[in-house]
Amino acid sequence: MYQKPNQRLINQTCIVTGGSSGIGLAIAKAIGQEGANVLVNYYSDRAAAEEVAAEIEASSDCGSSMIFKADVSKENQVEAMFAAAIDKFGTVDILINNAGIQQDAPFHEMTLDQWQRVIDVNLTGQFLCARAAIREFLRRGMQPNISSALGKIIHISSVHEIIPWAGHVNYATAKGGLVMLMQSLAQEYGRHKIRVNSIAPGAIQTPINESVWSTTKGLNDLMKLIPYNRIGQPSDIGGVAAWLASDESDYITGTSIFVDGGMTCYPGFTENG
Ligand code: BGC
Repeated sequence: MYQKPNQRLINQTCIVTGGSSGIGLAIAKAIGQEGANVLVNYYSDRAAAEEVAAEIEASSDCGSSMIFKADVSKENQVEAMFAAAIDKFGTVDILINNAGIQQDAPFHEMTLDQWQRVIDVNLTGQFLCARAAIREFLRRGMQPNISSALGKIIHISSVHEIIPWAGHVNYATAKGGLVMLMQSLAQEYGRHKIRVNSIAPGAIQTPINESVWSTTKGLNDLMKLIPYNRIGQPSDIGGVAAWLASDESDYITGTSIFVDGGMTCYPGFTENG
């Protein structure tokens, strides 16, 4: 059911990494509809990023949008991205640390490149962006009329931050690492009024898992893992992210919010054990 967005993020600026597709795209749009300025980061698909930015401009009365190409695992590119957002919008209030990849392989066949690239993008990329965001929050200082928090960081993690995943060890290791990154940052910067949380999506219908949901057998097998019995949609995550970035969730920090249709409820035990 469509409900009018609440305009909860007016006068705030948000960077969404990996904002040109999948979950990042839906979050960029949801945050834009709340009135924020949005920098849509992309790695390869410029046209898709431009489309997201144009949609945000069209859907918002007050927010503006820009695109920026950057590989989040590269320090100089992350620094340039934050500088561009600050140059255009004045500051950054919200970071959606979303960009992520999978490079799957049986563990004994996994190459060092496959291991390293996934750790670089999914974990080191989130470190580099979080560090740049916190530096900017501290430089800018509180703006009490804009938000109760100095800044908000939302890591996009996965159910695989707690569910082991055979054949995807590089991915699960990176997501497990995000728990400690997120909680340690929440602990370190709470006194500065910086909120740091994760959203841990389950199976969301995006290009990253198309090989699973695009066949009837794949989808049927997937349903055995989801008590709520439907695949998630990117907008399921977009709505939670907009709320988690807003003052409505001001007392939440250091937490992973699972948005997974119950995937983390051990559905294998429904009629077993
Ligand atoms: C992965 C998807 C997978 C889902 C549930 C996500 O983090 O990227 O490929 O479908 O977890 O297993």
